[in-house]
Amino acid sequence: MSTAVMTKVDSLLVDNLSLSFGGVKVLTDISMSLNAGDITGLIGPNGAGKTSFFNCLTGIYSPQKGSIRMGEERLEKVPPTQRAALGFSRSFQHVALCPELTVAENVMIGLDRLSRTGWLSAFLPLAGGRAERQHNRQRAQEALERLGIAHVADLMPSELPPGLLRLAEIARAIVGEPKVLLLDEPAAGLNSVETRSLALALKSLRSPDLVLVVVEHDMDLIMDVCDRIYVLNVGKLLASGSPDQVRDNPDVVRVYLGDEDE
Ligand SMILES: Nc1ncnc2c1ncn2[C@@H]1O[C@H](COP(=O)(O)OP(=O)(O)OP(=O)(O)O)[C@@H](O)[C@H]1O
Ligand SMILES: [Mg+2]
Repeated sequence: MSTAVMTKVDSLLVDNLSLSFGGVKVLTDISMSLNAGDITGLIGPNGAGKTSFFNCLTGIYSPQKGSIRMGEERLEKVPPTQRAALGFSRSFQHVALCPELTVAENVMIGLDRLSRTGWLSAFLPLAGGRAERQHNRQRAQEALERLGIAHVADLMPSELPPGLLRLAEIARAIVGEPKVLLLDEPAAGLNSVETRSLALALKSLRSPDLVLVVVEHDMDLIMDVCDRIYVLNVGKLLASGSPDQVRDNPDVVRVYLGDEDE
């Protein structure tokens, strides 16, 4: 892809977003400013609507109300493939690497939205695909290097411990140089050593050219890496602010520790 066409990355502005399924409210009047250059945390108990919110940002879910704007661009009606082309990328709550492909090949799939011929032809031994495949392979290697795991490029996913699998997934999400990167519970299933490596990796991704949003249940990780945190509870925005502000917010404490009077 030509980097010459890349524009300055704008913040992502979400205004009054509401989503429901068959009358069940999943998100109610959510407004957020997701700033380029920040790491934004999105936390909340199970079922709060965190993954659904990501699905609204990527266009998988269509909110009934509200707007999502990146610069001048209104995104609500933009289909998921076009949002990917605009620079939206994500990782999933459950590791989703293809077990039949090497780590590097899995990372190359992240270049799909930039491929001139489509990723499948880049995998096939056709003349047109070969040059692109080589180029993509190089970019995959660089993405793995950025996360400090270039040594696992030729391994199969089944050979990796959970911490490296997560980093490989993140490599796939960043290989196309996204403008918006959404990570859904990247620390799930990781031990404390792996979580510390993940924290370093996340901090290394912070960039003025990137809107980075992390959904997590691991509070220590969120407090450590985030500049700003939004707290969802049963589909509503409960609180937002710096890690210190959120940690000290009585509503947040009540939701996380339970109200002893109840
Ligand atoms: N496609 C759907 N159809 C119906 N209900 C849905 C759908 N997707 C999500 N929901 C409901 O929306 C609510 C929020 O779910 P969501 O997965 O967004 O929560 P979450 O905050 O990501 O939770 P967790 O921390 O457990 O991952 C849940 O009650 C869920 O059942
Ligand atoms: Mg979720």
